[in-house]
Amino acid sequence: MNKHQEIIVSPSLLSADFLHLYKDIEMINNSRADWLHIDIMDGVFVPNLSFGFPILEAIKPLIKKPLDVHLMIVEPEKFIKRLADLDIMMMNVHYEVQNHLHRTIGAIHDAGMKAAVTLNPHTPVELLKDILCELDMVLLMSVNPGFGGQKFIRQTLEKVQKLRRMIDEKGLTTLIEVDGGVNEKTGAELVQAGADALVAGSYIFGHRSPEEAINLLKELRR
Ligand code: DX5
Ligand code: ZN
Repeated sequence: MNKHQEIIVSPSLLSADFLHLYKDIEMINNSRADWLHIDIMDGVFVPNLSFGFPILEAIKPLIKKPLDVHLMIVEPEKFIKRLADLDIMMMNVHYEVQNHLHRTIGAIHDAGMKAAVTLNPHTPVELLKDILCELDMVLLMSVNPGFGGQKFIRQTLEKVQKLRRMIDEKGLTTLIEVDGGVNEKTGAELVQAGADALVAGSYIFGHRSPEEAINLLKELRR
């Protein structure tokens, strides 16, 4: 990331008020948030379920921000076309569920979306060495995926630094996004370490002013 470029903020809808999704989406639309992060779970890859296509299709027309879709599911490649038809900007697939990651990334690009690979906390960034040049973004999980509101895993800071070096050494523009336990404090440390984009759920939606929480993250600088 260019030193003067702003941090990308991607609020996670998982922590929104599901009885008033319209209101929370309007807040995001009118805020400085760059993207909207959508967490889809299957109860197999992660020990939880969230929401799927019926909800995504219903809310999509209301959303004015590009969608950053995080698939915590096995066989995400089955849904490439359906997500592309919904005009999703970024499709995140987990490294841990892929035998043919290169093929999946190619298929996501062919469908017209940006492609990101997500790593669980235990998965080393070095495993991406030979595919990094194909990726628009790497999403580093700083909690074990499946639930909002968990504690930030501090080892992630070292992973961000390592990945930053790998990207810069190759002269790539691949973005680094971090998801889990992000608030203004951990966010500041992540940005210092080299993150470009921050996902935040409970911090933003649990804040007395979600717009202000978004602004605080937007104002973080290296
Ligand atoms: C967790 C999800 C996250 C979640 C983050 O599995 O991938 O996007 O919403 O929530 P917070 O920001 O509360 O840790
Ligand atoms: Zn997520």
